[in-house]
Amino acid sequence: MHRAALVIITTRELTITMKRIGIIGSGAIGTAIARLAVGADYEVVIANSRGPQSLTELVDELGPRAQAGEVDAAARFGEVAVLAIPLIAYTALPAGVLDGRTVLSTGNYYPHREGRIAELDGLETTTAEYEQALLPGIRLVKAFNNIVAHHIPLLAGSQPRTALAVAGDDQAAKAQVSAVVGDLGFDVVDAGSLEESWRFEPSSGAYTKIYAASQEGFAADYLPDRGAAVTAERLRELLAASYRPDVAARQF
Ligand SMILES: NC(=O)c1ccc[n+]([C@@H]2O[C@H](COP(=O)([O-])OP(=O)(O)OC[C@H]3O[C@@H](n4cnc5c(N)ncnc54)[C@H](OP(=O)(O)O)[C@@H]3O)[C@@H](O)[C@H]2O)c1
Repeated sequence: MHRAALVIITTRELTITMKRIGIIGSGAIGTAIARLAVGADYEVVIANSRGPQSLTELVDELGPRAQAGEVDAAARFGEVAVLAIPLIAYTALPAGVLDGRTVLSTGNYYPHREGRIAELDGLETTTAEYEQALLPGIRLVKAFNNIVAHHIPLLAGSQPRTALAVAGDDQAAKAQVSAVVGDLGFDVVDAGSLEESWRFEPSSGAYTKIYAASQEGFAADYLPDRGAAVTAERLRELLAASYRPDVAARQF
């Protein structure tokens, strides 16, 4: 009797629910998020356009908590799916693969890659709203789009802690994504709705250079810059003072 009770207690203690995240896109941003996720004890399924066999080296490096998968496996794997792919590829995803999911979208509009998109150039919509309209079945939350990929591991867990902006229309989805961003080592600043997410779009007042250690150095060549912490209080100020960029003038 005593022994049985002990077994039950022990079994309960061993019932550990691993957090899970699916990541679509294995480039600069997807791998940076994947590395932080395995470091934060998440199980990860990561996918790209070329298929799991192309990800053997990466998952070996990420270790036993990571697996390579097809896009649909990554889409279904966790509470939150990360989309770390070019904006132009959002419509190339298998139809409906993310429907019903909370999606952390890292995407930005780079006209040299996407071609010109009249609604974005004309400021009729933010990039996040545009993405949400492309994938109406998802609950889209914008995050990690205003920090360069190599600053992500440099600033995760920084002292003082670095904050990232999160924007979305669905409060529950925003809370899910905020929890993930927190687990990955960042404070979170609620930057409002998808409509308000222009405040941290490219060339706005709260885009990547805010995380630079040297403004001049970053402007000349951003890659050697080691990054500097931006607290939640400072990020709130930067978002409040941000200016909407002239997207039609964007050349990159
Ligand atoms: N790099 C940065 O510093 C940075 C910063 C902020 C935001 N962003 C934004 O974040 C997003 C990702 O940027 P990145 O620099 O990580 O891009 P990247 O290095 O070019 O990687 C893009 C990834 O997307 C995958 N992909 C493309 N089409 C796909 C599809 N149809 N299905 C599945 N996977 C697909 C690619 O697969 P393959 O590997 O098979 O080609 C690749 O793994 C972009 O929207 C970018 O604008 C980037």
